[in-house]
Amino acid sequence: MKFFIDTADIKEIVDLAATGMVDGVTTNPTLAAKESRDFKAIIKEICSIIPGSVSAEVVATEHKKMMKEADILRKIAKNVTIKLPLTWDGLKTCKQLTSEGTTVNMTLCFSATQALLAAKAGATYVSPFIGRLDDVGQDGMELIADIMQVFENYPELETQVLAASIRHPVHVLQAAKLGAHVATLPPKILRQLLNHPLTDKGLATFLEDWKKTGQVIG
Ligand code: G3P
Repeated sequence: MKFFIDTADIKEIVDLAATGMVDGVTTNPTLAAKESRDFKAIIKEICSIIPGSVSAEVVATEHKKMMKEADILRKIAKNVTIKLPLTWDGLKTCKQLTSEGTTVNMTLCFSATQALLAAKAGATYVSPFIGRLDDVGQDGMELIADIMQVFENYPELETQVLAASIRHPVHVLQAAKLGAHVATLPPKILRQLLNHPLTDKGLATFLEDWKKTGQVIG
């Protein structure tokens, strides 16, 4: 499973890139707004840190304007992935961009039929929002399961399922069990994946016991 981080915070990206666990980055207009900096400059900087896919979302809602924004964003760096909303204009734009060799992440996916449309439009990634479905009393993970099942029936569909709106480590585990290709994680959740009190306790005991030997390894 690939791990992307869902942030536009450069400090977090630099810090987590050093772990070797970051395969890509996703941003959205809300995350970009938190940074109070020029969006294109942020994307350029992220692309220089992370060699993998970096999702940059258009804010236009009409096909021609989406294409115009996408054209500006994709010129920033080779690893920019254009993020588009799951609307008819978004799908039309997806089809055009992917036919031109640009990678696309179709976002705001809340149903398996939307995911199927994204795949038919040639999307590189489709982003089902798990947490936001949980928030309204639906089971977000069921959506991941449905999409995986549908895609498995049609091996010609190459779209990768990018589990998004992840709120806790159990979401990551469940999405991985279902075979989601990518999970995009807020930095805090990526860090939480490693936490276990028994690891900390065990390490403290090993080190205490080793100290008693008076030995050094090197
Ligand atoms: O990648 C989509 C993600 O940013 C949405 O997460 O927590 O705002 O639902 P959230």
